[in-house]
Amino acid sequence: MVIFLRPIAGALVTLVVYPVLFLISLGIQYARSVLPPGIDQPLKLRFYHATFISVFLWGSVLEKLRLYKFLNVLRLVTNGLPPFRDPSLLIQNEKFGDVAVKIYQPKKASTTKRKGLLYFHGGAGTYGSVDSYERILRYICKEADAVVVAVKYGLGPENPFPNQYVECEKAAIHFMKHAEDFNVDASRIAIAGDSCGANFVARICQLLVSRDDLPKVHAQVLIYPGLQGMDFYLPSYQQNSRVPIMWRETVIYFCCLYLNKTTSLINDVLESCHVPAAIRQKYRKWVHADLIPDKFKVRGYKPQDPALYKFKPEVYEEMKDILEETFSPLFASDDVVHKLPQTFLLTCEFDVLRDDGLLYKKRLEDNGVPVTWVHAENAIHGVAILFGYGIFSFPSAKRIVRETTRFIKNL
Ligand SMILES: *[C@@H]1O[C@H](CO)[C@@H](O)[C@H](O)[C@H]1NC(C)=O
Repeated sequence: MVIFLRPIAGALVTLVVYPVLFLISLGIQYARSVLPPGIDQPLKLRFYHATFISVFLWGSVLEKLRLYKFLNVLRLVTNGLPPFRDPSLLIQNEKFGDVAVKIYQPKKASTTKRKGLLYFHGGAGTYGSVDSYERILRYICKEADAVVVAVKYGLGPENPFPNQYVECEKAAIHFMKHAEDFNVDASRIAIAGDSCGANFVARICQLLVSRDDLPKVHAQVLIYPGLQGMDFYLPSYQQNSRVPIMWRETVIYFCCLYLNKTTSLINDVLESCHVPAAIRQKYRKWVHADLIPDKFKVRGYKPQDPALYKFKPEVYEEMKDILEETFSPLFASDDVVHKLPQTFLLTCEFDVLRDDGLLYKKRLEDNGVPVTWVHAENAIHGVAILFGYGIFSFPSAKRIVRETTRFIKNL
């Protein structure tokens, strides 16, 4: 009975409550967010941001009423709408060992072996799915003539961290070992991802450099990656702290959700209370505002006084996972970084994670790794997920996916 009542009750609550929530969200959006000059299509962005906020409120109401979990509401919405069938592609759901994947292949026969691309989707480790990225994955498959394998890793917190890395790595190794089965040249497999997915890419490429039994990863493709959990005062974090759609505290909020930690720690983590002085000192040479070029610091940035940081051992105890190399691939040592494959790296100007990308770019270049860098000057974090939605999308989403695809095509 409950099974039937739940969707009906959910729909009723939504019908009555949602319009009100949307108006409230629009108010919050205008009152609390800042849209810097030069940002891509600001009015449309406000609308999307208000929608995002309303999903939070709506999800919280449904969770309070014990109808649905907030995260499930967010997951439902971010799955997007399925596109029409594409007769030129063969799309299959498969298992690589115990890891679920979705494989996209051009139907047109190829006389030579194709290149391969593994894709790890974004969504803060807690939402997003291969469905959310369906349009992007099809586009890359067609335009770059690549066999694309998208990994359906289990989302947190139900699937505890760091299972996401384990599953993505397993899928990568399986694809490399069985490339022949898909008419793929195992020496031409690249690994790509966006946001937290790009974090997984960075880490897995680091883990794979020591594997002599596998072909080398051909390239890594990092689209607005998050790469460290130590410094949330980097210039981009300050400059974009109130830019939609990911506020500075939103990052930590999802971080806590992902790691199954209480969100009451958000303020302490934002204030860097989780970082012991020794760790701050150790990684200062790789993660510090001084390493960000001056041209990125003109807009609203204040250097932070280290004397202001107050270390709280109990916060460190709870959050120390985010200071490990798994969560923070920026902390990997030089002898690993210098073995990394050629890299495509995309950063967005209006993104709190911009400087994570810029810092990794510097580390790669300092270690002699070739980097193709694209900076989307008008873009916000996560915008690519709207690629392929026509007038509901943004020009910056199109540019990001096209530039990424061009790099993959030329591999
Ligand atoms: C998440 O944490 C809660 C308590 O804090 C615990 O009961 C639950 O089992 C944890 N979930 C997972 C998947 O580890």
